[in-house]
Amino acid sequence: MNRSVEDADSAREKVAFLGAGAVSEALIAGALAGGLDPGDVWVTARSQEHVDALSAAHGVRGTTDNAAAAAQAGIVVLALPAAVVAGVLEEVAGRLREGAVVVSLADGVPLAELEQRLPEGVGAARAMPSLTAQAGEGLTLLTPGASCSAAQADAVGGFFERSGKVVRVAEEQHAVLGPLSSGGPAFVLHLAEAMIEAGAVRGVPRDLARELVTQVLTGSAAWLRADSREVAILREKVCAPGGAGIRRIAALDRYAVRAAVVSALGGAPPELP
Ligand SMILES: NC(=O)c1ccc[n+]([C@@H]2O[C@H](COP(=O)([O-])OP(=O)(O)OC[C@H]3O[C@@H](n4cnc5c(N)ncnc54)[C@H](OP(=O)(O)O)[C@@H]3O)[C@@H](O)[C@H]2O)c1
Repeated sequence: MNRSVEDADSAREKVAFLGAGAVSEALIAGALAGGLDPGDVWVTARSQEHVDALSAAHGVRGTTDNAAAAAQAGIVVLALPAAVVAGVLEEVAGRLREGAVVVSLADGVPLAELEQRLPEGVGAARAMPSLTAQAGEGLTLLTPGASCSAAQADAVGGFFERSGKVVRVAEEQHAVLGPLSSGGPAFVLHLAEAMIEAGAVRGVPRDLARELVTQVLTGSAAWLRADSREVAILREKVCAPGGAGIRRIAALDRYAVRAAVVSALGGAPPELP
């Protein structure tokens, strides 16, 4: 490391994304809409074409040189497949700024391994964001490592808050909460697709069905947020005894949809003794 602590302070709002895939694109779009300056964002990939596409779409700086990008930033986001994290850390470690924080989004790479591969004075954190960040409604599980000062942890939290909500969790909670948070949009969108399809089967134009379903999802989320009663109580309001709503839910139950969701998101609950 050849940069001063003062340099690091001035670089803290600068963010380098190593990896130019779906999650980088979502976080970049959300953070820029949340006020981050595109001139303070670097993005890398192996392919120049992917770097150029993201730079052109968002006005951020791009390079295929991971170390050069990392050297510019106070926050270095590893938006990479887990299998390449160790190699990329080896590439960039010597160029990181004093006081920078490296945030890994890779599932299954422990903080202890990140910290072991980083030089003294560089913090490590794990984060599990959601692609809904691109709409400013992200959800990021954040675990700053012991190597992060309170100020470094706050800087990383502040960056993710530009595109949504941040929840600080213990590292061991990532495995349990990740499927609900970062994986959750896939479940909801799968349901949305099915609802639109159900409309189309009955002749509703897909764009109209999509508009209706989108508002139903938005409205249901707003209702859930506004009313703290049990979810079942809210759902029962839409399901009067003997009515069409409860008969449709009963049809879902015949296909064990609820059990399938519970199982897919983390396995069945343990057997009772
Ligand atoms: N997608 C999600 O919803 C989500 C949510 C939370 C966390 N994550 C995690 O975030 C990470 C990235 O996910 P993703 O969905 O964005 O993956 P992705 O779409 O497959 O993108 C991966 C990116 O990494 C780049 N890359 C691979 N090796 C590299 C190297 N040596 N140097 C620089 N760039 C390299 C690829 O470059 P090329 O473009 O040149 O191929 C690509 O741009 C993964 O660990 C994933 O588990 C994903």
